[in-house]
Amino acid sequence: MKIDNRTILYGVFGGTVEHSLSPLIHNASFESLGFNCVYLGFGVPPEKLRQALFGAQALGFGGLSITIPHKAAVMEMCDEVDPAAKMIGAVNTIEFTADGKIIGYNTDGIGVARALKECGVMIKGRKVMVLGAGGAARGVVFQLAKEGAKKITILNRTIARAENLTADVGRAFGNDIVEWAPFKPEVAQKNAQESDLIINTTSIGMYPDVDRNPLEGVTLSDDVTVFDIVYNPMRTKLLNEAERAGADTVTGDLMLVYQAVEQERIWLGIEPPAGTMLDVMRNALTPGNNT
Ligand code: ATR
Repeated sequence: MKIDNRTILYGVFGGTVEHSLSPLIHNASFESLGFNCVYLGFGVPPEKLRQALFGAQALGFGGLSITIPHKAAVMEMCDEVDPAAKMIGAVNTIEFTADGKIIGYNTDGIGVARALKECGVMIKGRKVMVLGAGGAARGVVFQLAKEGAKKITILNRTIARAENLTADVGRAFGNDIVEWAPFKPEVAQKNAQESDLIINTTSIGMYPDVDRNPLEGVTLSDDVTVFDIVYNPMRTKLLNEAERAGADTVTGDLMLVYQAVEQERIWLGIEPPAGTMLDVMRNALTPGNNT
C-alpha cells in the first residue's frame, strides 16, 4: 500500500476500536481496487465526537464508519440523515459530500438483507423470530419489514425494549406484521416451530461467551433457517446446534462484510470486491490467526 500526500483517509470512530475488523476489511478492498486510500481506527470519547467529526471533514476524509457508543449521538451532527437510518435511530456511516454536507446512513439492514440473499434465503412472505431488541435488532427488524416479511416476532429479555421496537416498526409498516413476546424457553420453542427464519441479534454466544446458546434447550426443526449475527466465533454454538438439527445456517461475518460493501458504495460509488473483503475477514477470524 502506497501512502503519500494524495492519500485519502477513511476511518471508524468508536469508544474502543482496537478489536474492530473494519480497517482490515476496507484496506483489503482499497488495495485490491488500487485506490490511494487508507482506513484507520480512531478511539473518540463522546465529548470529542463533534470536534472529531468536523475535524475529519475539514481534513478531507473520504468518509467514516461510526460505532458504539456514537451511533445515536452523531445523528444530530449530520446535515441530513437517510430515512432508513432515521427509522432505525442510529447512523453507522458518514458521507462527506463535495458541497460540504455531512450525511448519515445506516448500512446494517442492507448488510442483513444481502447476507440472506446471497445464501438464497427469502424474506418476503416469511415468518421470522428475532432474538434481541437492541441496536443491532433495530437494523435487522426494520429491514425485514421493508423486505415484506409476513410476521416478525421479537423476543427480548427486557420487555420495554421489545415493546418500543414493536411499536416503532408497527407505526412504520403496520401493527399486524410485528409482535413481541418474552424471551423464555417455552415461548422460544413455540415460535421456533412456527418460524421460517430465526435471527439472533443478542450477544449470547459471542467470544468469550462461546459455550452459550440463546436457544438452549429449544428443539429446532430441519425446515428452519438460523442466522446468527455474532461473527466471533464464526460458527457459534447456536449455529452448530441448528446444523445438527438439519437446519440451514447463515454466519454473521456475511452481514459485517455486506454492510461494509454498502459503505464503500456510498463513499466511492463503486461495487467493492466483496469476496476479497470476506476472505481477509474469515482469515482473521480463524482461530490461531492473530490479527
Ligand atoms: P447491539 O447494538 O449489539 O444490539 P445492545 O443494544 O446492547 O447491543 O443489545 C444487546 C441485545 O442482547 C439486547 O437485546 C439484550 O437484551 P436486553 O435488552 O434485555 O438487555 C440482549 N442480551 C445481551 N445479553 C443477554 C442475556 N444474557 N440474556 C438475554 N438477552 C441478552
